[in-house]
Amino acid sequence: MLNTANITRERLGAEGLEWDNELSSHSAAFAAARDALLSRTDDESAMLGWVGLPEDAAMLAAAQKLAAQYAGKFDDLIVLGIGGSSLGGLAIITALQHPYRALQGKSGHGMRVHFVENVDGDSISALLEVLDPKRTLVNVISKSGTTTETMSAYLICKAWLEASVGANWSEQIVATTDPVKGVLRPMVAQYGFSALSVPPSVGGRFSVFSSVGTLPALLAGVDVAALLRGASRANQEFKTQSLSDNAAMQFALANILYAARGKNIVVLMPYSTRARFIADWFAQLWAESLGKIHRDGHRTGTTPVKAVGATDQHSVVQLFMEGPNDKLIAFVRFEAAGKETLIPNSEPTQPDMNYLANKSFQTLLNAEQAATANALRTMEKPNLTFALEALTAENLGWLMQTLMLSTAIVGEIWGIDAFNQPGVELGKKFTYALMGRPGFEDERKRLEAEGVTG
Ligand code: PA5
Repeated sequence: MLNTANITRERLGAEGLEWDNELSSHSAAFAAARDALLSRTDDESAMLGWVGLPEDAAMLAAAQKLAAQYAGKFDDLIVLGIGGSSLGGLAIITALQHPYRALQGKSGHGMRVHFVENVDGDSISALLEVLDPKRTLVNVISKSGTTTETMSAYLICKAWLEASVGANWSEQIVATTDPVKGVLRPMVAQYGFSALSVPPSVGGRFSVFSSVGTLPALLAGVDVAALLRGASRANQEFKTQSLSDNAAMQFALANILYAARGKNIVVLMPYSTRARFIADWFAQLWAESLGKIHRDGHRTGTTPVKAVGATDQHSVVQLFMEGPNDKLIAFVRFEAAGKETLIPNSEPTQPDMNYLANKSFQTLLNAEQAATANALRTMEKPNLTFALEALTAENLGWLMQTLMLSTAIVGEIWGIDAFNQPGVELGKKFTYALMGRPGFEDERKRLEAEGVTG
């Protein structure tokens, strides 16, 4: 559920919203935007195929079948992907797999998963130095198959596998890519890779519940069926609830209203170390979807900022409290821990520590979250809280689908295309030009004339 108390006029004063009035006055517009989005889900070019992924039993079955084939054969999984092709899987696996790698890879804990995202020679060579190539599976994930960072890492891993397992190297590669298009798909036939498809109607940052996220999660031992069940619950709520009850639409409305009041930053701050990469995943989703030039020329978007509680209470929270009032802060809290950790009464002679005795870590963490949210409220800093029962696969699935639906509805209300990313193209072209890729000679000449070299 989404707790909106700390954005209301009653609680927040002048910076607050007349929330009940806003809910009623925007109800019809949000229902229309929701219906417009849902009416386009069967149109491939609308890029809304992700909405139905949680209910796509065939897609899950294909990933499960492949995961079952690999069970017990490998200890380590290298995921090659970037942006939408890695962040969702990273967020899910970090949140739900046993956090200590010494135990991962053993029965019941799934494979150890290593996400190679950035171009970092020291990291990838260090990783390949410690892994056993005979016990390592590589999942190369790229919808386009043209992504420089991913495909260069693929070439490195391919050579590494070839050098040690020889002719059978291709049996240790799984490709997740477009079913027809792109550079990676023909390599599937050429080398006989196992492969899964990213539906053409699903863009990278909305692909977490396709095989992009589900295969790595299954291999890590995550309960993916529960994850999708939670995502599907978010879908049902979105389809049937009105603005006054729906978390996805309310999060969107709060962001729209505060953006209109000049709050150009949205912070996502999970109170959980394991759930911390949800903030990274959300930052990419929100920024790449909503940072756009509208067709009438004005610019849209608010800047997502990642934070983690309670750690960042000793860092950026000072700025959130006393710095400019330019943010909407969204917390994520979990009422119960998976396993309660009790703080023992082991210093009974220290009166200043007695208040901690016999309380759980989760009680402390939740007190810190509530304290921070309400301290911010007293400073008139708007904040809301996604309050979830526990960090489970089902709740995580709900949260991620809710945030995707929110992003889509903000794009719809703002009248922009939330599913493209034209702004990243020029930088890609310049990279190709600087790396000497044929076809980019004009860009290279332009850069050289401007004194730019790689
Ligand atoms: O959200 C997006 O579309 C992007 O972030 C892509 O996921 C990212 O650029 C990787 O693209 P690809 O999967 O084609 O390698």
